[in-house]
Amino acid sequence: MRLALDVWRQPGPGALGAFVRYQVADVSEHMSFLEVLDVLNLSLVARGEAPVAFDSDCREGICGTCGFLVNGEAHGPLRNATICQTHMRHFQDGQLLRLEPFRAAAFPVLRDLVVDRSALDRVVAAGGYVSVRTGSAPEANAILVPKPDADRAMEAAACIGCGACVAACPNASAALFVGAKVSHLGQLPQGQPERPRRALAVAAQAAAEGFGHCTAMGECAAACPASVPLEAIARLNRDFLRAALSHPEAIERFAPLGRPPEVGRWLAGPPRDVR
Ligand code: SF4
Ligand code: FES
Repeated sequence: MRLALDVWRQPGPGALGAFVRYQVADVSEHMSFLEVLDVLNLSLVARGEAPVAFDSDCREGICGTCGFLVNGEAHGPLRNATICQTHMRHFQDGQLLRLEPFRAAAFPVLRDLVVDRSALDRVVAAGGYVSVRTGSAPEANAILVPKPDADRAMEAAACIGCGACVAACPNASAALFVGAKVSHLGQLPQGQPERPRRALAVAAQAAAEGFGHCTAMGECAAACPASVPLEAIARLNRDFLRAALSHPEAIERFAPLGRPPEVGRWLAGPPRDVR
């Protein structure tokens, strides 16, 4: 099959970018989207042009490294799939597709389809961990975890950190990602001692990184290739409010970049989207 690709080309951070149209012939329906870009890049290099920069690593939906918009949709039109798992059999011969980087103030474009998603790493570094000595794997029944709690923790732990939820959200909110990190650990016994501190710290860091506030649009969960449910955001809000109301002093201690405006607003009264 043959495809026409309008690809966002931008030579560097802050540089002017534009869409450039390329025709890609001899595309197999079994190729993934990244393999089509490999084919395009081979022809660009052969012509002496700069290849299209894009992120990839595992190419099997595990690592969360890949990601861009296809016709305005994060990871393309397939549900529950990353762009590296999206194959050409889902598109028409001769179709025109528009490829552009994830758009969010907290994800500056580095080059072409590559954005800087290190803001997500800093959110995790602020609180998405348990600071206890875990040692080697314990005996399976040493700490009993009810099955519903284990299932909810697993749902949240499925997050691969791709950032598609941010790109899909009209507010560029990272609430689904942050909720996944908070509720993954908050459902398990090992995560309880640091649960209030974690909720305050990751919310403060997300605000400091410039992510928007959640207005419960639900676009994030629709775009999420790991099927992280919207309930993760409700759990984040609940943990945050419980922590803020019972440990107001902790906000100053654990907000690394000061007291973000959201914290003051949330302390003044619960937002409407918290159940
Ligand atoms: S919540 Fe889903 S869309 Fe957001 S970073 Fe995690 S895997 Fe990606
Ligand atoms: S390259 Fe790892 S998820 Fe796509």
